[in-house]
Amino acid sequence: MLALTAVIFLSFTGCNKGGGNEILIGEFASLTGPNATFGISSTNGLKLAVEEMNNNGGINGKQIKLITYDNQGKPSESQTVVQRLIKNDNVVAVIGEVASSNSKAGAPICQQNKIPMVTPASTNPEVTAIGDYIFRVCFIDPFQATVLTKFAINSLKVKRVAVLKDVKNAYSTGLADFFEKEFKAAGGEIIEVQSYSAGDKDFKAQLTAIKSKNPEAIFIPGYYTDVGLIAIQAREIGITVPLFGGDGWESEKLTEGKAKDALEGCYFSTHVSTENPDPAIQNFIKKYKEKYNAMPDAMSFLAYDAGLILFDAMKRAGSTEPEKVKNELAKTKDFMGVTGKISINEQRNAVKPAVILEIKGGQFKYKETVQP
Ligand code: PHE
Repeated sequence: MLALTAVIFLSFTGCNKGGGNEILIGEFASLTGPNATFGISSTNGLKLAVEEMNNNGGINGKQIKLITYDNQGKPSESQTVVQRLIKNDNVVAVIGEVASSNSKAGAPICQQNKIPMVTPASTNPEVTAIGDYIFRVCFIDPFQATVLTKFAINSLKVKRVAVLKDVKNAYSTGLADFFEKEFKAAGGEIIEVQSYSAGDKDFKAQLTAIKSKNPEAIFIPGYYTDVGLIAIQAREIGITVPLFGGDGWESEKLTEGKAKDALEGCYFSTHVSTENPDPAIQNFIKKYKEKYNAMPDAMSFLAYDAGLILFDAMKRAGSTEPEKVKNELAKTKDFMGVTGKISINEQRNAVKPAVILEIKGGQFKYKETVQP
């Protein structure tokens, strides 16, 4: 009789989200597929945060257990795995994704189920607009567009710019639109806009059309996977002007092979420079290198911070109850992360500076910081 009661009792508490002695946190990430470095870097950063938190006694006496699923870099698969995390694994919060298109696919499921989601690196404004359970620890693309506009006009000193965007990517089309608006408002001229789709291998037609207009620079708001090939083909047809882009360029794979020379003297904006002497940044690099034998990139830093602000919200809430955690996440103010001070604003975005990096000999060299 007692045993039976125990079984019934357990099966009831089993439905209790976050019940037991572990706090279950879900993550969806592109561990395979064309943008695999996004997922690998972010999951490594997040795991470091979980490990440190657990070594320091966990959250309110409970250990964190991270469940990570691969979405192969696909929006449809993002929906499937976020659903699984919430319905089958009973996670109390979700971290992810890097690519805005994937975050936009996963976020509505978190919102409908009232499970807080923190994206480390998705910069498209629509992601957090999905609802009050969706947060991010990075800046948004209207700001990134302002940063790139200032850089193009003041530092590159260019006025006539062409744009080459990825039409299958919410981040790319969004950043292209914001940039075109900002750049024109600042007195610049957008002399040509061309498109491609992620995974394309031949960009010669678009590049030839761009070349015929004689731009002073080409803005390519895409992901590293395609940018390398675009740069190689641009140089092959005799385009010599600088190319520049946003955070989607960031991966050590960007400058592999012939892309190294093709991208020499090109620029992109991103979230953090590993050359920054700030002890928080240098200490993180050291820990990351020790654990993974690799350099962290922006996604590693941001995912670590995404974990930290979530854990901090749970601590302050004294609970892992999703609604309470959501309320505390919204109150995050001046939290010292490895990417700087994080304050969540009314739109559930973080307001933070951006850095411009220059590609030199295949390395990303710090050029300047732009404050919000
Ligand atoms: N900001 C990009 C997006 O929203 C993702 C990204 C972030 C890529 C940081 C690289 C570095 O899609």
